Amino acid sequence: MLEVLSNLAYKILNCGEDYLEMKESVQQLYDLFKEITQVDIENYNSNDIFLPSGKALSSSYAAHCLLEMKRTAIFLRGIKKAIDFKLAEKNGKPIRILYAGTGPYATLVTPLLPLYSSELVKVDFIEINPISMQAAKRVVEHFGLTTFVEHYYVCDAATFTVAKLYDVVISETMQCCLHNEPQVAIMQNLIPQCSPSALFIPEQITIDAQLYKRGTWDGDQLIDEGGAISYLGEIFRVDKKNLDSSTFRGTISIPHPLKSPHDVLLCTTIRVYNDEVLGFKDCSLNTPLKYYEIRDGYEPRTIEFWYNQSEKSVIESKVLDYIG
Ligand SMILES: C[S@@+](CC[C@H](N)C(=O)[O-])C[C@H]1O[C@@H](n2cnc3c(N)ncnc32)[C@H](O)[C@@H]1O
Repeated sequence: MLEVLSNLAYKILNCGEDYLEMKESVQQLYDLFKEITQVDIENYNSNDIFLPSGKALSSSYAAHCLLEMKRTAIFLRGIKKAIDFKLAEKNGKPIRILYAGTGPYATLVTPLLPLYSSELVKVDFIEINPISMQAAKRVVEHFGLTTFVEHYYVCDAATFTVAKLYDVVISETMQCCLHNEPQVAIMQNLIPQCSPSALFIPEQITIDAQLYKRGTWDGDQLIDEGGAISYLGEIFRVDKKNLDSSTFRGTISIPHPLKSPHDVLLCTTIRVYNDEVLGFKDCSLNTPLKYYEIRDGYEPRTIEFWYNQSEKSVIESKVLDYIG
């Protein structure tokens, strides 16, 4: 059985941009985990948990994250590189990983464990949802990976007290534009408690504004397909050095004149680790969100955006001035 898990991990790590192989491998991984845990992607809203820092997904919804094939592949590739880097840096000494928000399959770590020795890699899990944690534990036990995992903490990662020195800290608890889920709160809590040399995964999340040219119609006829994207500017980024959400704001100017209708989009880019990056439309976490439709008679010149961090975090905006 362990061989099946390592073969799937190998394929996902090494299939490059062969999306058919990626899709099949991720689907097989899902089928395997589903059978072991009896947690599947039905019953989406069965047991969401609402925390002061945001919404923790139900077991079924968290299970579904696995099937976002590019998200899963790029995270696994980035995490493997981070583990390898830390193992090389530690030169034969063991490394410790903290994985916050494991979901029911601990998807971002369990497929990688068979590639290492449990003498060298130790992991602690955090998960707020007891059903998900129970399922993740079942996966670990099923594959005989118990010697890798030291602690299963069923608690809120946004208030968790770090009591060990971790080398790699992982959390993917986010939606596009960092809305609703507690990614930022978890980073704000865990990063300052860890050593500056610890790697946090994802390394950086950036929110940029882009201008999207819409198609134009003349009666029945499409006269311009549209689709061109142009960069307007960065709104904010979240990483080790940027954790104060009161600074998560930015102002952009719209170039004028615009000869056709355009949309102002906010786009989320995730640098998982090093060159492993999820960008425009790679997965649901990178879905561009439309904030404004610019057309004749409605032409904002300057727009301000800011992050309103709460139990329902959201990026808000206002037009500062208009053309004419
Ligand atoms: C988006 S899912 C990701 C699951 C899995 N890590 C993956 O990548 O496939 C996020 C998981 O984090 C958990 N979670 C969210 N907020 C949390 C918090 N504050 N503390 C602990 N776990 C949390 C949710 O219950 C959910 O299982």
